[in-house]
Amino acid sequence: MMAAPVGTDINRAAELLRAGKLVGMPTETVYGLAANALDATAVTAVFEAKNRPSFDPLIVHLPDWSLVPPYVLEVPPLANRLADAFLPGPLTILLTKNARISDLVTAGLPRVAIRIPAHPVARQLLRTLHFPVVAPSANPFGYVSPTTAQHVVDQLGDKITYVLDGGPCVVGLESTIIGFEDGGPVVYRKGGVAVEAIEDLLARKVAVRTHSSSNPTTPGQLMSHYAPGRRVQLFRRDRPLPEIDVASSGALCWREPLPGIAAARQYLLSPEGDLSEAARRLFAGLRQLDIPEIETIYAELVPEHGLGRAINDRLRRAAAS
Ligand code: TXA
Ligand code: MG
Repeated sequence: MMAAPVGTDINRAAELLRAGKLVGMPTETVYGLAANALDATAVTAVFEAKNRPSFDPLIVHLPDWSLVPPYVLEVPPLANRLADAFLPGPLTILLTKNARISDLVTAGLPRVAIRIPAHPVARQLLRTLHFPVVAPSANPFGYVSPTTAQHVVDQLGDKITYVLDGGPCVVGLESTIIGFEDGGPVVYRKGGVAVEAIEDLLARKVAVRTHSSSNPTTPGQLMSHYAPGRRVQLFRRDRPLPEIDVASSGALCWREPLPGIAAARQYLLSPEGDLSEAARRLFAGLRQLDIPEIETIYAELVPEHGLGRAINDRLRRAAAS
């Protein structure tokens, strides 16, 4: 099959989704691999295209929070407060599903992940449709998420029919995933909304339970996620720098290059020290350094606050594989 065409035709994307096809969809976080969430054949095709195990559930996308009730048993007050503050935007909320959402979508789990993306093109596409859309990140399972339409074509171009181009993603990290246990909020994936922002809104501590092997509620939080093809070695400036074989290494750095490595193999996340810029540039940087001439990518951890916590989470996962 030929590589999927890239374009900005929302009606064409909608038409293909109505016909049960897979479409690359821009969002403010990362590009998604979109399909009709109510079409079991289309949902199955998403798992196949990504080579994703069927025990890893998909996120359901809608254009507006007001359209959520038909798909869930209830919307707790806490969920409404989060939605008022952060949606549309990079926060995914787990709610108890009803029978309209199939077990295929949630991998048999009782909760469905609901996301209301802020990207204007995604919202317009979703508004055109009369069904919710599943959209995992549009990358092969376990690899770095795409932040441009070209990334989608490069990795999944022969498996989809069209990539809707909405420009480079402005957030650059996947959505934060939050749910409720015994009425209290729990973050299962750090992402585009900082945990501190949620804690400020709710005026309480929020539990963070990511990649714990004792936590089967988020099977996708495998430690080896978000990995490029190279070995990734983490470092920090306030610790002794690692010994480097400069000839075979690249460096993904926070503000300043890593001495010794050629400039062409350096990627700076944000010389100004801006965490949102670093988040936006992270995955493109990992991709840029993911080339055969580089054996090891030395990746610098960023300050561990705000979006920095989500950036470091992705770096640690990349290093763990
Ligand atoms: O920013 C995003 O969320 C992007 C864009 C495209 O919307 N989507 C995305 O989807 O990152 P995906 O499939 O790559 O990651 C979704 C994560 C997985 O780790 C999955 O295990 C978790 O969400 N998840 C989905 N449904 C869940 C559920 N019902 N319960 C627990 N975890 C769930
Ligand atoms: Mg993903």
